[in-house]
Amino acid sequence: MSKESAPSRYHPVHVALHWLMFLLVVMMLGVGKFVMPGIPADSPQKPSMLQTHAYIGIFITLLLIVRIILYFTTQRPAPADAGNAFLNFVARAVHLLLYLLLIGMAVSGLGMFQQANLPAVFSGAAPYPADFFAYPPRMGHGLVSTLLVLLIVLHVGAALYHQFIRKDNLLSRMWFGKR
Ligand code: HEM
Repeated sequence: MSKESAPSRYHPVHVALHWLMFLLVVMMLGVGKFVMPGIPADSPQKPSMLQTHAYIGIFITLLLIVRIILYFTTQRPAPADAGNAFLNFVARAVHLLLYLLLIGMAVSGLGMFQQANLPAVFSGAAPYPADFFAYPPRMGHGLVSTLLVLLIVLHVGAALYHQFIRKDNLLSRMWFGKR
């Protein structure tokens, strides 16, 4: 492949990270929005559930760092054409925002981890906080998570639009194969 020609797909490690992160983030959003709030603060399940959440969140943060490095160091396919300039602009904005919102989830999550001294909560040395909203990053974590749900819906909708309405097989760019 010459330096000028863009590959037809993303780098295979980027593809693997995309799908692994998609699964983990959707699971975290679902559990964070619907399962965690239903467990009472005095339930013995509460700290272990939050511990799993926090450690998967930290794992997603590490994957995000690797993914951002790969974004700048591997060759990417040429920007996709959605058929008009406005949609092309929206696509670029959504992709940038997805990265920014994930950074926002990581920073606010780690902020709570530090402010609420979660390692001590997980080891049983400190009580489970009565209300995480006492810590300023909690508000950001909630707001950003709602925006993230909306953007993921837009992102999936756009992928399906390309696949089934424009029929340009855009999904193959985010799958494994010869580049
Ligand atoms: C991409 C990564 C993450 C996602 C998608 C995510 C998702 C969520 C969601 C959806 C909620 C409920 C928000 C609401 O609706 O108000 C939540 C709460 C929370 N998350 Fe995360 N999170 C992530 C990373 C982290 C990290 C890295 C930590 C800490 C190390 C963390 C700690 C917490 C805490 C302490 C709460 C509050 C629980 C409560 O109020 O009982 N999260 N998260």
